[in-house]
Amino acid sequence: TGCFTYDPGFTSTASCDSAITYIDGDEGVLLHRGYPIDQLADSSDFMEVCYLLLHGELPNAAQKKEFEATITRHTMVHEQLTQFYRGFRRDAHPMAVMCGVVGALSAFYHDSTDINDPKQRMIASHRLIAKLPTIAAMAYKYSVGQPFMYPRNDLGYAENFLYMTFGVPCEPYKVNPVIAKAMDKIFILHADHEQNASTSTVRLAGSSGANPFACIAAGIASLWGPAHGGANEAVLKMLEEIKTVDRIPEFIARAKDKNDNFRLMGFGHRVYKNYDPRAKVMQQTCKEVLAELGIKDDPLLDIAVELERIALSDPYFIEKKLYPNVDFYSGIILKAIGFPTSMFTVLFALARTVGWISQWQEMIKDPGQKIGRPRQLYMGHTPRDFVPVEKRG
Ligand code: CMC
Repeated sequence: TGCFTYDPGFTSTASCDSAITYIDGDEGVLLHRGYPIDQLADSSDFMEVCYLLLHGELPNAAQKKEFEATITRHTMVHEQLTQFYRGFRRDAHPMAVMCGVVGALSAFYHDSTDINDPKQRMIASHRLIAKLPTIAAMAYKYSVGQPFMYPRNDLGYAENFLYMTFGVPCEPYKVNPVIAKAMDKIFILHADHEQNASTSTVRLAGSSGANPFACIAAGIASLWGPAHGGANEAVLKMLEEIKTVDRIPEFIARAKDKNDNFRLMGFGHRVYKNYDPRAKVMQQTCKEVLAELGIKDDPLLDIAVELERIALSDPYFIEKKLYPNVDFYSGIILKAIGFPTSMFTVLFALARTVGWISQWQEMIKDPGQKIGRPRQLYMGHTPRDFVPVEKRG
């Protein structure tokens, strides 16, 4: 009953107005604050993109310097937070650890919780952008039993993350600048994507006035699923399962079979009905990273390229407008850099944090903002009388 629009999956419902990110899914266009994603990926850096998403404009040189200094000032986490990890099993999925630890930040920064104070909102945003690499690297270190590495504020954002992940205290760690640049680019490509499931989750959680760190933890939980950010992990598992190029047709046939719930992971998108512009940059970055690392023949890349070729010439994928998305090539790069598969979605969460918190800020500032409260079509029982347990059959 009631006169609601029924729109499961929100395929045609706008939940907010926003000036952050624009997508034209038919043309394969993605703009952040008006700037095309390929230009940002090629010519900007992640710190600038963070500033752009948060503040609406690219920083000038002085603003950039100040922003970088602010972020580096917040890279350490409270020593007590390091104890929090020890409650997890060593074999916990790092995304489970991320949900817990990022949520736990809400218990550490009481000053950041006054969401009506713009200054405090910005401090919470800076803390999140700064601490996510530290928290993500610690999730990895915990899983492999190595000591946590303190951040190094003399390094750039991506460099520092690589250092905290792959460095060990007993020997010097030299960050490869080509890999650091590629990492930075991957962060840019994941920074925001308007009202996807995890961003909508952050907005919905935040619409009740909840603590911003808790809202981001909610976003991380939503991102984890294989239909969303978990797809990068699922793509790699799929490529490993396919194993050899000659087995691709078998998997394509399964993806087309309505009685088989297998899908080509890294393919298809709710909004893009054309090539995902992020996937194009990712494919190029993948080639650059493999070349830098001297990997001449990566069997997984061969399978991915061939899978893409076959799928894009198959009537099923053509008719349904299913193209590779951002997750299709990212896993191959991350694996080549040395990340285990279970860390892939963690890296997505790290980079998406700036998008989530920018969208959260925009929502809080919106004078028309209301608590998010969808309606339903009730399909259950009509009223009936309670029956005591001894009289139930
Ligand atoms: N393989 C085979 N068939 C597919 C695929 C796929 N990857 N994606 C969609 N389809 C089919 C689907 O079966 C449906 O067919 P029909 O109309 O006959 O029922 C049609 O295409 C439309 O799919 P849908 O599930 O109704 O579309 P959606 O907008 O609800 O879902 C999606 C979008 C991304 C969840 C889906 O394409 C998918 O599951 N892809 C694989 C997972 C993936 O790569 N996710 C990452 C998305 S991009 C990054 C991110 O969000 O994190």
